[in-house]
Amino acid sequence: MKKKKLKTLPKIILILLIIIVIALCIIPSKKEENKNNNQEVKEEKNKYEKISYYKKENKERYIAYEKENPTLTLEQIITYVNIGLDNPYYTNTKPADNLNTNLLLVNKYNYLTEDYVPSNLENISTTYARSGMQLVKEAKEAFETLSENAKKDGMNVIAMSSYRSYDYQVNLYNNYVAQDGKEAADKYSARPGYSEHQTGLAVDVYNLDLPYTSFEETEEFTWMQENAYKYGFILRFPKDKVDITGYQYESWHYRYVGKKVAKEIKDNNLTLEEYIAKKVEN
Ligand code: DAL
Ligand code: ZN
Repeated sequence: MKKKKLKTLPKIILILLIIIVIALCIIPSKKEENKNNNQEVKEEKNKYEKISYYKKENKERYIAYEKENPTLTLEQIITYVNIGLDNPYYTNTKPADNLNTNLLLVNKYNYLTEDYVPSNLENISTTYARSGMQLVKEAKEAFETLSENAKKDGMNVIAMSSYRSYDYQVNLYNNYVAQDGKEAADKYSARPGYSEHQTGLAVDVYNLDLPYTSFEETEEFTWMQENAYKYGFILRFPKDKVDITGYQYESWHYRYVGKKVAKEIKDNNLTLEEYIAKKVEN
């Protein structure tokens, strides 16, 4: 009996040694594997930081948005998430920044409160507008110069809607909803507080002959395409940017942003949303 025990002891020791050797081999390689995985995750996250307008607080949203939209470029992922497009329109909304500046952004994610009235509202001369039309001083002066110079070229670029109060937009939006239903109205009309017209920086134009909705068919529209930026205005809801602005194409709606920004937006085929997401929130 004792002899047998003596014989099995070296066997047990041998087996234990083998187990220890195997464990020593496996543990470091597992550690290496984990390290590599962590490295990959880190690199995946760090690639966003290379874009200058990357925002640290949006990191998880970039990752999620890229998973849902694998065909987009890194720049597009960051721009669209910065705009808020990873959330449905009218969700994750916040009060607009930059009140009373030319870069005030009001859209389906950024709103103005009921009591917001821009400072420096002035009447546009009835030579260039329907009666009672207002814009903030700088935009009004720029618009009058634009309209005057258009006239010199034989064109009528006339303001038919400009500053609109919160309450005015309530009526307008409710009428559109009653007429076309909410889903359709949301495609062409802003909800109260979400209209750029409340900024006093937006103007709808027509040429006196055709309804404003036919502005695209006029030579005045061609003139605006070539010249509006020189006076600091941009076409705010372009045909090819519906998914970004959240509104159908509006050939008649122009937004004052100042000459420098208007040129940059035009030269780079941007919307105001993209411009701000790329340049300002840097
Ligand atoms: N039609 C534009 C989007 C507005 O209602 O402000
Ligand atoms: Zn408009």
